Amino acid sequence: MKQGRVFSGARPTGRQHLGNYLGAIKNYVALQDDYDCVYCVVDLHALTTLQDTKHLKEWTYEMVLDWLAAGIDPDRGTIVFVQSHVPQVTELHVILSMVTPLGKLTRLPTFKEKVRQQPDNVNYGLVGYPVLMAADITLYKANVVPVGVDQVSHLEFTREIVRTFNHHFGPVLVEPQAKHTEVPKVLGIDGVNKMSKSLNNHIELAIEPDELYNRVRMMVTDPQRQRRTDPGRPEVCNVFSLHKVFTSPETVRQIDADCRTAGIGCVDCKKMLAQNLADHLAPFRERRAQLATDPDHVWDVLHDGAERASVIAREVIAEVKTAVGLP
Ligand code: TRP
Repeated sequence: MKQGRVFSGARPTGRQHLGNYLGAIKNYVALQDDYDCVYCVVDLHALTTLQDTKHLKEWTYEMVLDWLAAGIDPDRGTIVFVQSHVPQVTELHVILSMVTPLGKLTRLPTFKEKVRQQPDNVNYGLVGYPVLMAADITLYKANVVPVGVDQVSHLEFTREIVRTFNHHFGPVLVEPQAKHTEVPKVLGIDGVNKMSKSLNNHIELAIEPDELYNRVRMMVTDPQRQRRTDPGRPEVCNVFSLHKVFTSPETVRQIDADCRTAGIGCVDCKKMLAQNLADHLAPFRERRAQLATDPDHVWDVLHDGAERASVIAREVIAEVKTAVGLP
């Protein structure tokens, strides 16, 4: 017996990287054991920040292919779909916007951050971003939403809208609980910034082993360790952080000790990491290649997902409209 329904959304960003995997996908896969899961490619959300939308289709395909290869499994009941394929979300967005105080939206730290990032494109949709997210979650009556630190304020906002809506119109919407997931901060190969495709400091899950070795070799290590004979500080080294995820605990302890005494150099340490990463990712790459032999597969999964999502969405939007009193 499942413990309820999980909903999560991710913007279509194309091939996924280690940061996406450790921060979200791994969790999405695990949640399937205990919940009915609904995973959504939020293409409408993507429109709020994209000036150039020509890659949306390709990025949706590549992202979902990675999800499936990583173990998100529609055969286990998981619904995977594209936000815009179930248009009821836009209706709910409009209705929820009527119980949303504008000041609350413009005060959100995430909104202010976007205004800083794109001062020339502060569009109306950007202000409504969290309302659309609330519509996503409530349209599927999700009880649980896995959130990392960056989405905590959005989820709290959703809970507030639900309370306001239900207060006015009756107990129709479900107030979702945040499931705080341990999101390790995965830094990029620059060793400073969060891993991200836009900074090109990422390592893709589907990367070829040769290319993987190149990326790992480029990784910035302890800046104070200039020469091979200098002792290193694993606690400030991003190569070491990844070893902690992908290398066995005994070896990690060994590396920790050897780095501090300059017993091991960065080159060898990186070789080990690249090898372990390649081993770890091999089954993923194999499944991905296998799935990609049928170019329609991803679209079939998304089509089927949209149909299953629509069954829920149609029911909930009807309930909402009745509750609001729309004729
Ligand atoms: N806002 C999320 C992000 O920027 C994406 C998102 C949209 C989402 N709708 C959602 C996340 C619903 C969880 C639940 O990453």
